[in-house]
Amino acid sequence: MQIQFEAQPFSAVAADAIVAYVFGDKDKQARIEGTAAELDRAAGGKLKLLAESGELTGKSLEMSLLHFPAGLAAKRLLLVGAGKPEKFSHAELRKIAGAALRYLKSRGVKSFAFLPAEKDRTSAAAQAIVEGLLHANFESDTYQTEKKSNKSIDRVALLGFAAASRAEVEAAIERAKAIGDSENFSRDLINEPSNRLTPRMLASRAEAMAKEAGLEIDILDEKRIAELKMGALLGVAQGSEEPPRMIVIRYRPAQKKAGAPILGLVGKAVTFDTGGISIKPADGMEKMKYDMGGGATMLGVLRALAVLKPTIEVMAVVPATENMPGGRAQKPGDVQIAMSGKSIEVINTDAEGRLILADAITYAKKLGCTHLVDAATLTGAIVVALADVHVGAFGTPREYLDRLLESARAVGEKMWPMPIDDEYEEMIKSNIADIRNVGSGKGGGAITAAWFIKEFVDDTPWIHLDIAGTAWLDDAKPWAAKGPTGVAVRTLVDFAMKM
Ligand code: BES
Ligand code: ZN
Ligand code: ZN
Repeated sequence: MQIQFEAQPFSAVAADAIVAYVFGDKDKQARIEGTAAELDRAAGGKLKLLAESGELTGKSLEMSLLHFPAGLAAKRLLLVGAGKPEKFSHAELRKIAGAALRYLKSRGVKSFAFLPAEKDRTSAAAQAIVEGLLHANFESDTYQTEKKSNKSIDRVALLGFAAASRAEVEAAIERAKAIGDSENFSRDLINEPSNRLTPRMLASRAEAMAKEAGLEIDILDEKRIAELKMGALLGVAQGSEEPPRMIVIRYRPAQKKAGAPILGLVGKAVTFDTGGISIKPADGMEKMKYDMGGGATMLGVLRALAVLKPTIEVMAVVPATENMPGGRAQKPGDVQIAMSGKSIEVINTDAEGRLILADAITYAKKLGCTHLVDAATLTGAIVVALADVHVGAFGTPREYLDRLLESARAVGEKMWPMPIDDEYEEMIKSNIADIRNVGSGKGGGAITAAWFIKEFVDDTPWIHLDIAGTAWLDDAKPWAAKGPTGVAVRTLVDFAMKM
């Protein structure tokens, strides 16, 4: 899909469709103002008539398609509801652009032009629009012989921007591409079934990406993992015929300042989670191919940063393994010694994510990371708490977490701060080892999981993102296909760029 700046006036653009949006107001009638009024004038008052008839309300993501609109060279005019103006933001704009793309694509349209409202003719708005388009264009059709994307959008033009802002808007398009294509890179990885994405295959995919992006990569095999005494990762991996990998990708800025922070992005990559000996029920188990979502997220972030070039050093540290109930699998009650030296009583082999993150965090610190963020499809408990709406965000110190929450807000990803008070630490004390991998009480499963990770973080500023509920959509949205969401890529890119 090509995305380009278009300087022609909208009425002269001969696209398959022009997309614009209209705001609603209290009378359940779209406001024909600004850009909508211009379109209305070109179309001889048709929009006003539609609004007055009650058909065009401006309700969020309402779609009204007009064919062969008078006064326009385009074949169609798609009006998307933008909701109430006071609730409008770039997050809404992203959804409008995405929903328009999916609506037109499903109708066989090949190219269209997007006309933002006057106040959205800025480079930040252009970036949001293009991010929305790229996000929406993703389909899960890699293995479908008659691809869904036989219907494809080939070209989108951005209309209405001042000719003088061309260079600025084109730079925004490029930034959005770096981010959107990287999100989709992560989503493609998450979609891969576990027979086509073992830890070794994930490592090769990471390697190919790093080579193409010009990033440094180091892949630790099972021998080096054993030499480093990563007992927690090895404990999980020992139940599988497939050997584990620890994938490290580094971005280094051209000029490194002494004392500058080094950001470590640690991502859980369990390429399939059966639960191990504490095996999961069969119903829905196929979804557990997505249990490498945190790792895929961090690889996607590095891919984007290679283009966007933050001023600080950033590395992704991705522990990759299967969690299988093989003959050599670890068993409930087993004790493993993590790389840090801490002993862990494995109460439940299905709480494997925190085990592999423990060693990855220790290794990231060893490599010099001064600041950490981890992302993981870690607990069913976060799904109970926040459903598929918010990412659960834990962290200390609070100011560090607040900076990430601010980035999430800025890029339109919903994240919610979760508590990590000392009281919860009690719940992961073990009788026979330093800690146990499951909380002793009934409640607070997402928090005790976070606390387990924190045991390996110590005083390093750290954020933990539990994306178990948000990394996968069970049902399509108007602006996104069902399946992997790529959540947290945009936030982490923004966070690293601002650090
Ligand atoms: N990968 C799962 C988390 C998960 C569970 C995601 C359900 C989506 C739905 C994780 O490894 C896991 O199995 N966690 C257990 C931990 C429990 C045994 C303490 C869970 O949350 O049920
Ligand atoms: Zn599990
Ligand atoms: Zn898991």
